[in-house]
Amino acid sequence: MFAKNKNNTKAWQKLEAEYKRFKKVEMRDLFKKDEKRATKYTLSLGDLTLDYSKNRFDADVFEALIDLAKERGVEQKRDDMFSAQKINFTENRAVLHTALRNRSGQSVVLDGKNVMDDINAVLMKMKKFSDDVRYGKFKGYTGKKLTNIVNIGIGGSDLGPVMVCEALKKYQMKDINCYFISNIDGTACYETLKNLDPETTLFIVASKTFTTIETLTNAKTCRKWLVDALGEHAVDKHFVALSTNREKVVEFGINPDNMFAFWDFVGGRYSLWSAIGLIIAIAVGFENFEKLLEGAFAMDEHFKTAPLDKNMPVILALLGIWYNNFFNFHRYCVVPYDEYLKYLPSYLQQLDMESNGKSVDKDGDFVSYSTGPAIFGGAGTNVQHSFFQLLHQGTDLVPVDFIIPAISHNEIGDHHQILLSNVLAQGEALMRGKTVLEAANELKKAGKSDDEVEALKKYKSFTGNRPSNTLLCKKIDPFTLGEIIALYEHKVFVQGVIWNINSFDQMGVELGKQLALNILPELKGKSFALDHDGSTMSLIKKVKAFRK
Ligand code: F6P
Repeated sequence: MFAKNKNNTKAWQKLEAEYKRFKKVEMRDLFKKDEKRATKYTLSLGDLTLDYSKNRFDADVFEALIDLAKERGVEQKRDDMFSAQKINFTENRAVLHTALRNRSGQSVVLDGKNVMDDINAVLMKMKKFSDDVRYGKFKGYTGKKLTNIVNIGIGGSDLGPVMVCEALKKYQMKDINCYFISNIDGTACYETLKNLDPETTLFIVASKTFTTIETLTNAKTCRKWLVDALGEHAVDKHFVALSTNREKVVEFGINPDNMFAFWDFVGGRYSLWSAIGLIIAIAVGFENFEKLLEGAFAMDEHFKTAPLDKNMPVILALLGIWYNNFFNFHRYCVVPYDEYLKYLPSYLQQLDMESNGKSVDKDGDFVSYSTGPAIFGGAGTNVQHSFFQLLHQGTDLVPVDFIIPAISHNEIGDHHQILLSNVLAQGEALMRGKTVLEAANELKKAGKSDDEVEALKKYKSFTGNRPSNTLLCKKIDPFTLGEIIALYEHKVFVQGVIWNINSFDQMGVELGKQLALNILPELKGKSFALDHDGSTMSLIKKVKAFRK
């Protein structure tokens, strides 16, 4: 790919030729031709199984995709990440979320220092503190047990903890309740605080930079709420901070002894394995938090050691590239069939779209190919009754990942069997479709007249040949969840390597923040400092008129 016509590389050209040869091939014919297709294209890692056979590829396409990974140096770049090279080159930082869950006992050296010493020290501090809160040793100012834990953070300092706490709700201590305040909308603070008792509430202010306006404003409001009720002296017993910025934590008024550190080699959206996971450890216990780390470590090991053609994250990434860059499918859907995983799609939106929503490559050139797709999803079966219509009959094809636990934490009557039958049916329906002829025959069988059959047969038909992956596990436990999250992290990494972009900065979020800071005083005051476009100026004036 790349240099002026950067797509013009050997592997890329081969894939373009493969696309021409293959674009019309039907998956159902591939299954008919090869009885072993499902076994051939299924991979397992412990209790986690990935069936990627319902994708539009054959052995030749697969080989060409693997060649692309080789040509782009995926293995070398992966090793660079694990060995602390400063691959986040726009910020001159290493990318070491993998060190946070490094269970090998081996050191990870960055700038001559073993980062594992600091990481393990913070993990021990998290263990002690989470145990102390859970078992009532660390109490509130008035001596009561802290049972309401409020995480104040946004983006990566919120989405990971929210998603994991919900996913592992079944492991949560009975008298611990978790709350999350992220939005600057005062409603978030109001609705959370209105039912809480300051004497039993612990606030965790989670911010890598400790400069994020939403988090600092929310934290200030919560601090005032607490101080109004219990006095300034209570703050040390009710506020802790998770950050890389000690100075700002102190400036805000949180005791540095109550601070849990992490480091600039941990990206916000990759930070749930760090101190940012404190609320998870309090909710489900440090042992379970460690199992989450172990699951992620198992996936790291798989990613590091499995050959490219047997490597789950690599294969997911390459199939994504195949659709995004050759079929021009620019959306991607993730549907967990597990109520506890309902926040996984939102988490993956940040992980994927903040990482790979980029337009400038590593050489400083605007890319001439499409990069990160738009990610969406939701919990099945709910979403079957909302956007699945488009997945089945819409004009734009959307590849889907289904995530299924074979066993539910709540096996009540037939619920889980019905859920499972639904997800398995969805994958089959997307792949197989229903021809116009099949639809007509069905209508005839149902006793419809010839006119009715003619009128309805196309509406009742499905083109099929719509791809999906199925990620099946035994049960969603902390270990498996760790594996699944790390799987997606590495998928995103591999795609970033192939698109030759930096997946670890997020400069695209800055312009809006900057302009908001300009507009804020204009909303509050009388004058307009900036020369806005007509629409923005008129909206500012209208907003002010409403608020008069
Ligand atoms: O707005 C983007 C972002 O920088 C994310 O990358 C990050 O996860 C979030 O804001 C929160 O940042 P912080 O943890 O520094 O408050």
